[in-house]
Amino acid sequence: MRAGVRGGLWLLATGCLVTAASLSMGAAARVSQAPDPDSIAAGMRIFRQKGDCQACHGWAGDGRKMDNQMPDGANLRESKLDREKVIVAIKCGIPGKPMPAFDRLAYSDGRCYGMTAADLQKRQISFPDPPATLQPREIEMLADFLFAKVIGQGPMDRARCIEFWGSDVEACREFPK
Ligand code: HEC
Repeated sequence: MRAGVRGGLWLLATGCLVTAASLSMGAAARVSQAPDPDSIAAGMRIFRQKGDCQACHGWAGDGRKMDNQMPDGANLRESKLDREKVIVAIKCGIPGKPMPAFDRLAYSDGRCYGMTAADLQKRQISFPDPPATLQPREIEMLADFLFAKVIGQGPMDRARCIEFWGSDVEACREFPK
């Protein structure tokens, strides 16, 4: 009986170890693998619709904004930021620049640059309102999209445009063949 219990515990313990090992392998694989196409596609939709990033950054993310009333967004294709910094920029905005903060709780608890709304006020920092607030998962998908299709991808041209949209759409006509 005792042996049986001990055996069972041992099995349980190895089970946990195996699970932990496969989980960490999964995490490592995820870092080195390309993100899955579904999250890239979802990130692209958020960029164009819910987050309306394209209003200031242009559909291609190259800074040719879609809405002339909006501030000039950065050319994200030339951004030197790594994934972590891109995520901070999206969640927290960029103090001193008209880049909105998309995390609903951005300046509530010090999670953004250690500042709260009171600190912003003291330093006379303000941000434009974001078109919508975004969940952490949505921001991860945006980052997947940006690093797959925008950041570090070079200037938009016809071939990249067709790859970006998945076919030779109207928007690609401006780029010479
Ligand atoms: C109201 C206009 C506006 C909107 C909407 C907007 N941005 Fe920005 N964004 C800016 C401006 C302005 C900057 C800073 C430009 C500069 O550095 O001069 C910026 C900077 C950034 C940067 C930092 C780039 C770098 O290399 O420093 C990232 C990343 C970024 N935006 C991503 C996004 C994403 C993703 C969205 C949508 C969720 C978005 N932005 C929506 C205006 C906007």
